[in-house]
Amino acid sequence: MAQNIPAYQGELINLYVDGIEYSKLREVAQSLPSWDLNLRQQSVIELLMSGALSPLRGFMGQADYQAVLDKGQLADGSLWPLPIMLDVSDKCAEELSAGSQLVLRDLEGVVIAILTIDEIWRPDLKAEAKAIYGIDTPSHPGVAALLDYSNPVYLSGSVQGLEAPAHHSFKHLRYSPQEMRQQFSKLTWGNVIAMHATQPIHRAEYKMALQAALDNNANLMLHPLVAEGEQYHSRVRCYQEVLKYFPGQTTLLALLPLVEYHAGLREQILHAIIRQNYGCTHMITWDRYAAVKVDSKIDNHLMKAAQEQLDIKLVSYELPVYVEARSEYVAPSMLQTGEAVATIDSNDFYHRLDRDLEVPEWFSFPEVVSEVRSSYPPLVCRGLTLFFTGLSGSGKSTIANAVLAKLLEIGGRHMTLLDGDVVRSHLSSELGFSKEHRNINIRRIGYVASEITKNGGIAICAPIAPYASLRREVRDMITKYGTFVEIHVATPLEVCEARDRKGLYALARAGKIKEFTGISDPYEEPEMPEIVINTDGISVEEAAQQVFHYLRKERLID
Ligand code: ADX
Repeated sequence: MAQNIPAYQGELINLYVDGIEYSKLREVAQSLPSWDLNLRQQSVIELLMSGALSPLRGFMGQADYQAVLDKGQLADGSLWPLPIMLDVSDKCAEELSAGSQLVLRDLEGVVIAILTIDEIWRPDLKAEAKAIYGIDTPSHPGVAALLDYSNPVYLSGSVQGLEAPAHHSFKHLRYSPQEMRQQFSKLTWGNVIAMHATQPIHRAEYKMALQAALDNNANLMLHPLVAEGEQYHSRVRCYQEVLKYFPGQTTLLALLPLVEYHAGLREQILHAIIRQNYGCTHMITWDRYAAVKVDSKIDNHLMKAAQEQLDIKLVSYELPVYVEARSEYVAPSMLQTGEAVATIDSNDFYHRLDRDLEVPEWFSFPEVVSEVRSSYPPLVCRGLTLFFTGLSGSGKSTIANAVLAKLLEIGGRHMTLLDGDVVRSHLSSELGFSKEHRNINIRRIGYVASEITKNGGIAICAPIAPYASLRREVRDMITKYGTFVEIHVATPLEVCEARDRKGLYALARAGKIKEFTGISDPYEEPEMPEIVINTDGISVEEAAQQVFHYLRKERLID
């Protein structure tokens, strides 16, 4: 008989309204202000509305938020590891006050939900980062996402759901907690153990999941995180391939629409709550689960609270290693002294794909490897963006043109040059040089470059791009699809000004051009560009040669 694990704190929440209330709210929505949810927010609201985040009924207020940051709990003392917030722009917040309602729409404008607002406040995002990640600098991917992508105002309040955000792909692998529970019950599954994944599952994870299911007398739910907007289709096909190797009667694949927070144990516990709400009785954890390091002060407290307050059991495993001499996988603690193990970690795996090298069968399943290869071709055929950044007159365009000419000489690739001045006369002719306009300009360039990269071409960009956060954003956009090479043309300001090819520095000094980079506007130096070129004293040819050496060394071109 299927054992029914309760939702976290008892009741499985369902925020969707129906019947007359649904029609009434749809009508009310017409006259309310609205907010367009980004993809990150869309996945959170989908989980909220379906009850995956039970007992939450909306976005957290300040008391809950602060308690979560300080102690990993809600204001009432119950375990809750991460803030569940709705962040909006100042412009949106201006129209709102406590008690007012806001329509939440998806990217296509469909009304997803209505938020009745309790509180409106400007959070200290750096303090939030510090509480969760132990640091507040964007060198940590979780902090970078929080600082770069959050809007400045938080809204709290209760949510009424009207439509689930639409998913057009893999519909048959998507379940609400209620549907999942019904499925378990239909299959008469008692114990169900959840296996997390954000990467393809290879043999080591496969063996571990099988072992965990056996040890816990459980059926297995592969529950990978799949965030909308990410290039996830190929990864899901990998899970579908690996699913064929698991025992069919006792294994199920379901997609969890959630972004990664890179928040260590806090994140694992959020996943445990979600999976309990989905009806799982166990969840596998292992050392590479949420592997990005977090300097957390409250892990012990969180672990204890999870054991006391959650019904789902977190079962900890070691990822097995392959012993070639025995032709089998073994838990590291079961190794005999001196026994040699063969290892390929994620870096080695992608390195092999980069170089089109063999991936041994002991490491992964041939179908999985061939699926990964199809979306991750060897470096020499993969899309590439060369992103030159530097002051006006530093030589970006000249070097970019020289690199383009050399690449054209080699041939075999589609190439597009997105030069700063040229982009401004075509794509961005209406924009000026305020921070806001520059950022729009760079975002446009990034978008075009990412499309070129996605389709296997080479994009060469040469804007000033003075702000580090925007360069980071472009890097993130590109690396989803291919390789990003940031080239800092580090010609000193004095040299650029002395050259003053366009006569703009003189005008800027005379105050006739405002917000001029280097004179009356900032240029944030790149911290870790792939290439730094100081053009002082070298020829254009030599500068272009430096770029070429790098491309060859990294095997980005033949
Ligand atoms: S960015 O900041 O948005 O990246 P972009 O590379 O497109 O700048 O444009 C820079 C070019 O615009 C410069 O090479 C220069 O010719 C011209 N320009 C005109 N006004 C300014 C200004 N205030 N600051 C910098 N460049 C300017």
